Amino acid sequence: MVEKRTFSEAHNALVEQAHRLLPGGSVGNVYDDTILQRGAGSHVWDVSGNEYIDYLLGSGPMLCGHAHPRVIDAVREQVGRGTTFFATHELAVTLAQEIVDAVPCAEQVRFTSTGTEATLFAMRTARAARRRDRILKFEGGFHGMNDYALMSTFASGTVELPAPEPDSAGLPGCIADQVLVAPFNDVEGMTAIIERHHDELGGVIIEPLQRVVNPEPGFLEALRQVTARFGVPLIFDEIVTGFRLAYGGAQEYYGVVPDLCTIGKVLAGGFPLAAVAGREELLRSFNPVAREDGRYMPQYGTLNGNPVAAAAGLTTLEILREPGTYDRLFATGEQLMAGVQSAFDAAGIVVQIVGAPPVFDVFFTDQPISSYRDTLTNDKAMVTRFNRQLLDRGIFRPDSKFYVSIMHSAEDVARTIDVFAAAAKAL
Ligand SMILES: Cc1ncc(COP(=O)(O)O)c(C=O)c1O
Repeated sequence: MVEKRTFSEAHNALVEQAHRLLPGGSVGNVYDDTILQRGAGSHVWDVSGNEYIDYLLGSGPMLCGHAHPRVIDAVREQVGRGTTFFATHELAVTLAQEIVDAVPCAEQVRFTSTGTEATLFAMRTARAARRRDRILKFEGGFHGMNDYALMSTFASGTVELPAPEPDSAGLPGCIADQVLVAPFNDVEGMTAIIERHHDELGGVIIEPLQRVVNPEPGFLEALRQVTARFGVPLIFDEIVTGFRLAYGGAQEYYGVVPDLCTIGKVLAGGFPLAAVAGREELLRSFNPVAREDGRYMPQYGTLNGNPVAAAAGLTTLEILREPGTYDRLFATGEQLMAGVQSAFDAAGIVVQIVGAPPVFDVFFTDQPISSYRDTLTNDKAMVTRFNRQLLDRGIFRPDSKFYVSIMHSAEDVARTIDVFAAAAKAL
């Protein structure tokens, strides 16, 4: 096991150049001191040649690992036939069919390029159908970077709900008036807010597995019930959970079916494509015939349903459909979750391991985690030190979450658990 990675002069020069050219020295996501060069399967390499076991997985899309030979073949074949058309392409139709076959709420599909756009359009779809403006979201729920989504994702946790806290500078002040925020996993609190505000609500959006916080039994069911009672469209943001928790996503895994959902990441196998899927009656707003009743939502997008992304996505889904794939994925995740728990037990450090086997995290707190406010008890300094220990020892992950792939091998797991033990000891 490497104790401490080293950086080449070329790497250091590139980091310096990145800091000159890119605000914060990064493309906006993780790590301003590590520049990656390539990936294969469950591993990535930086510009200095340091090798890492990768639990970032491109922030989730690479469930089948980096540069999977079958995905690459499909992409190569499509690239040779044209990379984008704007017009409807046969692979977009095939991918839509696959989504409708797999995802319980999906009767129709509208493609976008990113998850941020998908959640934006899902919320707009709900508002157009319901003809009300306000959106209810959950404290700590992440729905990308659109204006409506950037409310109370990184909240202080000190505000009385349902008042939102804007997450970003530059948001129009009027947006905050249009968003209400409910507490995750609090049936009573959530129900009371919806009962009080249902007549103003265009829709409700939720991550069914919120970041890594599991929904308590009955919570999603209660949300489904109360939204149905008042005819408020319910959106599951399945950008993370789609094709990950199960082939049919969180709605299959938890057995609760929303009216609309968003899917991305895994769906596009590492290319820019995402989707809004749901009941035909709601998706009708994307159809120009909806002009008749004033519900039409134009949604032009240069790369909508891009054929290269669709080719990567279709092959990714084909791999995931192979028998036993999810059993293996869950078994790998379970071993890692157990491994990290015993590493910290042995070091005498209290942690909470939270999430589902394909995506989980470690919280440095003695507080069980079932709400966003519980997550605020996480000792951030410990998280930073833990991540540094992992990076130095060849484990790559985002600043939060571990994403597990179907390519992580028994050897990867054993090595990762050794690193957990060494990191826990060093902490
Ligand atoms: C739940 C959820 N929704 C939406 C998004 C936004 O997706 P994208 O980064 O493709 O815009 C993300 C991204 O991580 C996400 O995790």
